[in-house]
Amino acid sequence: MVRTLLAAGILVGGLIVLEDQAGALDNGVARTPPMGWNSWNTFGCNINETLIKQMADAIVNSGLRDLGYKYVVVDDCWFDPTRDSAGNLRGNPSRFPGGMKALGDYLHAKGLKFGIYQVPVDKTCAQYFGSYPGATGSQGHEVQDAKQFAAWGVDYLKYDWCSPSGTIDDQVRTFAKMRDALAATGRPIVYSINPNSIHAKTGPQRNWGDVANLWRTTEDITNKWNTGQTNGYPMGIQNIVDVTVPLASYAKPGAFNDPDMMEIGRGGMTDTEMRSHFALWAIMASPLIAGNDLRSMDPATTTILKNQSLIAINQDPLGLQARQVSNDGTRRVLAKKLGNGDVAVALFNQGASTTTISTTASAIGLTGDSFTLRDAWTNTVSSSTGTISAAVPSHGTVVYRVSGGTSSTPTPTPTPTPSGPPNGCTATYRLVNDWGTGFQSEVTVSNPGPSAIDGWTVKMTLAGGQTITSLWNGVNTGTSGAIAVKNTPYNGTIAGSGSATFGFTANGSGSTTPTGITCTTP
Ligand code: GLA
Repeated sequence: MVRTLLAAGILVGGLIVLEDQAGALDNGVARTPPMGWNSWNTFGCNINETLIKQMADAIVNSGLRDLGYKYVVVDDCWFDPTRDSAGNLRGNPSRFPGGMKALGDYLHAKGLKFGIYQVPVDKTCAQYFGSYPGATGSQGHEVQDAKQFAAWGVDYLKYDWCSPSGTIDDQVRTFAKMRDALAATGRPIVYSINPNSIHAKTGPQRNWGDVANLWRTTEDITNKWNTGQTNGYPMGIQNIVDVTVPLASYAKPGAFNDPDMMEIGRGGMTDTEMRSHFALWAIMASPLIAGNDLRSMDPATTTILKNQSLIAINQDPLGLQARQVSNDGTRRVLAKKLGNGDVAVALFNQGASTTTISTTASAIGLTGDSFTLRDAWTNTVSSSTGTISAAVPSHGTVVYRVSGGTSSTPTPTPTPTPSGPPNGCTATYRLVNDWGTGFQSEVTVSNPGPSAIDGWTVKMTLAGGQTITSLWNGVNTGTSGAIAVKNTPYNGTIAGSGSATFGFTANGSGSTTPTGITCTTP
């Protein structure tokens, strides 16, 4: 029902919240990936008003604010362990004696923005693990807490599902409650969710752009290159990149994959790895949220965080995440199309020794025979007739901004299926990523008629005999390659001219274009 109202563009508390055609939340904020700082990676639960103010001063004095780092996010452990008699949240009186509104005022007076942490369940993550008392989560208090945050001047909410309970459908419904509560306050607030902590890793299983501006794709990051985890605690840089690269198609203005707060300047990695971490976050259109102590940065850290070429690539107005061009396990090439027609290309060495990584202008979507390559680390400019290549050290990433030629990035052509009668449904299949031994796809279910439909089923057969490995935003009742996907409770109602999307991953090689796609309504 809420989705239907939103799709129709109803005015909620003074702020029009629209979902665009692809079902993305469009609340006017995070048109490019947010940049800033968060307290958790360095300080964990040990936070207070003085520390946050010192960090705000440091972000201004170091010049980071003026390069775009604006959001100062106060993570877990800021609150009083009990709500007041009216059920309101309050700041912890010994840690934040001035109160949260005053902290927000301090940040705003410095040209910064105020971010805060809360959870949709009963306990925050620190409360769940017993390192902080109380059970002050927003469960059952969504509207009240959203109003409180707006009254304090909060500009960014980090909302963390830190609990093993709940299905992905429960998560979608519950995260949507706070989305709607924030919208109803009329204050523009970046909505950043994490569906993964001590939970099945549901972050990478769906495009959360209809629910939030930012969604974590993995378990928590740590300051290591590779922890050997595929998506478990804790995640290294290489491990997070492996999960997040295939989700590239989800990114757009207002909606970005979140590979977690940065570990640059926290030790645990070489300078080459730290530079790679920043370059990869930049080209993946990830939020650039520093996690180090900004009061004591060494020159290498400052240089990395202040790299203006990479910041410009990250903040490009098209809001696209780099697509994978190639990956042989060692040499990985990613390309991000930019608003002025340039293409940023990352040559990422995942191997243990220096190697030459090469691609071509045509492989990154440019045609022509005369190109300029600007190295994002050295600012050196070179020219090329089409070859893009560099010797890259182990775990290093060379980034070139490639100009010239003409952009020819193909727009994916959806495979249309026969339209149903008015108030029936159609299904459009789209391949999102193909990694040879498996693939990921999205199916958009559309209602071409003028009035709402209630329920849908999409049938198709995987042409290459593959099997589904995970499926989200739908329930598969078919067997092996013969798929019959029904709507979930939250996406069965589709308004006239509206649409819903489900996605899946499948294992196996062979054709990635299924046969016999049909969509039916009950
Ligand atoms: C979870 C989140 C972290 C941090 C902690 C706070 O682990 O993923 O980013 O917010 O909770 O307790």
